[in-house]
Amino acid sequence: KKTTPIITDPQSFIQLTDECVALFNELKPIAGEYARRMKVLKRLNKLIYNYFSDGKPQLHLFGSSANNFGMKNADMDISLVIDEKHVGSPKRIVLRLGDILKRKRMLEVVCLPRARVPIVKFKDEFSELSCDICINNTLAIHNTQLISTYSKIDIRARQLGYVIKHWAKCRQINEPYQGTLSSYAWIVMALHYLQTRNPPILPVLQNMTAPGEERKKVEVEGHDVYFYSNWDSLREFGTPNTSSLGELVTGFFRLYAEEFDWNDSVVSLRTGGYLTKEEKQWAKQTNDRDNILLTIEDPFEVTHNLGRLVDRSNLKVIKYEFKRAYKLAASGKPLSKICEEYVAD
Ligand code: CTP
Ligand code: MG
Repeated sequence: KKTTPIITDPQSFIQLTDECVALFNELKPIAGEYARRMKVLKRLNKLIYNYFSDGKPQLHLFGSSANNFGMKNADMDISLVIDEKHVGSPKRIVLRLGDILKRKRMLEVVCLPRARVPIVKFKDEFSELSCDICINNTLAIHNTQLISTYSKIDIRARQLGYVIKHWAKCRQINEPYQGTLSSYAWIVMALHYLQTRNPPILPVLQNMTAPGEERKKVEVEGHDVYFYSNWDSLREFGTPNTSSLGELVTGFFRLYAEEFDWNDSVVSLRTGGYLTKEEKQWAKQTNDRDNILLTIEDPFEVTHNLGRLVDRSNLKVIKYEFKRAYKLAASGKPLSKICEEYVAD
């Protein structure tokens, strides 16, 4: 088996690091962006309150508007937390929300009540931000907080996440509807990579407790969503590892181009290591929908494989992209080449 020689000289990563930092600075939203989105959310909250007051409605941001990996004009992912006993099924809530939003002059309102996850889509009339509202997606609110906490521990976590997301978008392997990986899955992989460095750059928040405290269980919809959230106490956690961003980006590509055991390993952010497909009972595919070729455990919904949409042909594409990216990075090619837009031939 031919392998690309491993570069160990830190000097050779200087250019790539500079380019990655520049990309991060270009992609990350301006300082007031989160506050702007919270303002939109607050206004929407007021607007719907009276129509659902018996269900105590509360809108929450999740996804890239709130996880610290958002691009400038990304859609707002919103979850309506509401007591369904009082106001009916998600399908009915979505239809009612759609009516209200139309009456309140929101733009381009579209309801998708029969989708696997019923949602209403629209454009906010003032900010012109595109919004998706789903109903009671509580786990997503928690996993957004988990991702956000990881992102604040070491700047390299945020930087690596943005670079990987950008690369995956440019290479068209960030398209869950086409059978590749969601942004969320890519971020989980990037964070897990940083947990598994030596010395580690990120801790395993779901296993951590404050000194002298016992690990408690926080249950939401039957899943344990506990994690150690005091990131401020962890700001020095990654400093013993002095790897540059360019080195980490190259290492991430190398891991999946040459080291990862695709046949048996499961990426697990929850445990900060690898599990086996065998122990997850993901060694044999049990239905047509849920593939087990690339297995990435959701940190809270542990029976959920974030790679389940990746079938044989998309797995080939993803593996090819890792090899391509690693070859280019390891031979000193610029980031713009590594992230060159994919064009089908
Ligand atoms: N999510 C999830 N399980 C998945 C996919 C997504 O729980 N299999 C939730 C996560 O909370 C995630 C959110 O939905 O943060 C949005 O997912 P996604 O659009 O993949 O990620 P974003 O961070 O919003 O990225 P983008 O900027 O590409 O929209
Ligand atoms: Mg999103």
